[in-house]
Amino acid sequence: MSQSATAIPLPSNAVHLDFSVSQEEFYHDVIDGLSQPQKTLPCKYFYDELGSALFEDICQLEEYYVTRTEKALMHKITEQVPRLIPKGVTVIEPGSGAGEKIHWLLNALHRPAGYIAMDISKEILIRSCQVIKRAFPSLEVASCVADFNDFEKLSGLLATLQPAHPMLFFPGSTIGNLTPDQAVNFLTNYRTVLLDYAQRTNSKTTQSSWQSLSPSLNPNNDVGSVLIGVDLIKDKATLEAAYDDKQGVTAAFNTNLLTRINRELNADFNLNLFKHKAIFNEAKSRVEMHLVATADHFVTVNDLTFAFTKGETIHTENSYKYTLPDFCDLLRQAGFEPKQVWMDDKEWFSIHHARIC
Ligand code: TRP
Repeated sequence: MSQSATAIPLPSNAVHLDFSVSQEEFYHDVIDGLSQPQKTLPCKYFYDELGSALFEDICQLEEYYVTRTEKALMHKITEQVPRLIPKGVTVIEPGSGAGEKIHWLLNALHRPAGYIAMDISKEILIRSCQVIKRAFPSLEVASCVADFNDFEKLSGLLATLQPAHPMLFFPGSTIGNLTPDQAVNFLTNYRTVLLDYAQRTNSKTTQSSWQSLSPSLNPNNDVGSVLIGVDLIKDKATLEAAYDDKQGVTAAFNTNLLTRINRELNADFNLNLFKHKAIFNEAKSRVEMHLVATADHFVTVNDLTFAFTKGETIHTENSYKYTLPDFCDLLRQAGFEPKQVWMDDKEWFSIHHARIC
């Protein structure tokens, strides 16, 4: 595992909020998903400790081009970033995970004021915020254990912390794990929260410690910008290999969801009766991950039993792949104006900068 177990003391001035998903919610989501005609499980539950560590391992795989392509592209555009994003911003990163890419952004930006990380995986979140706080001692840092689709939490977080000039950083093509409709909703909600916050802040005279670092108003009246990493459509073989590697790390990541349900929800999934499968659904422009039942059998989750027929699947994840114009349309639909887009030489991955309009 690429994860270190070294304990780092919690900096006293870092804010930590915990809205962990309850076991009841987890149970209801699982029951609900397994009761559908096409059985499904929400992908947010992949990220327990082992799942998060396996995901870090996926990011290092030869077949998984996404991470290294995005990182190389970031490296290439470093100098352009501070010209587009005003000084003194607070970076909000939903689904921050191990949080490696944020180091690049915080180094690239001109005097960032703060960093707010949101993730469902508590241990990884705390560890990565400790590392950030040590690397950027003057930065205000807050971590929030929550589902990043929880906009009420985000809105409350902004009201409490009152950060200066919040902007969204959403790398890793995490937006591709939402359907295009969900992605539009996500960005629309995010935009609404930021606009409300900007309005409330403008009508107030007092400032929080998060704001005192950058008292001047945003020079170009930027209510909020976004920097989003988006994976692009490419050949089927490359796409499918990225989600079904030879070593079987992605397969282990996928089946770990069943292990977690067995452990936490008193279930009896037999891991020998499920096989990992990844296919590129061209019509929907998405890579789908499934767990395929290899025999007719029954599975019990606490008090409820589900029948599986041989060949039936549990759909566990989508990873949508876009064209540049399609993603720009999506941004516009959500009320953002695309400002700049970058691609690597192979045109495999893109980073979009857009502003609220
Ligand atoms: N958002 C990334 C992607 O879609 C990361 C990811 C989510 C992922 N779930 C995954 C990668 C499962 C591999 C397997 O690529």
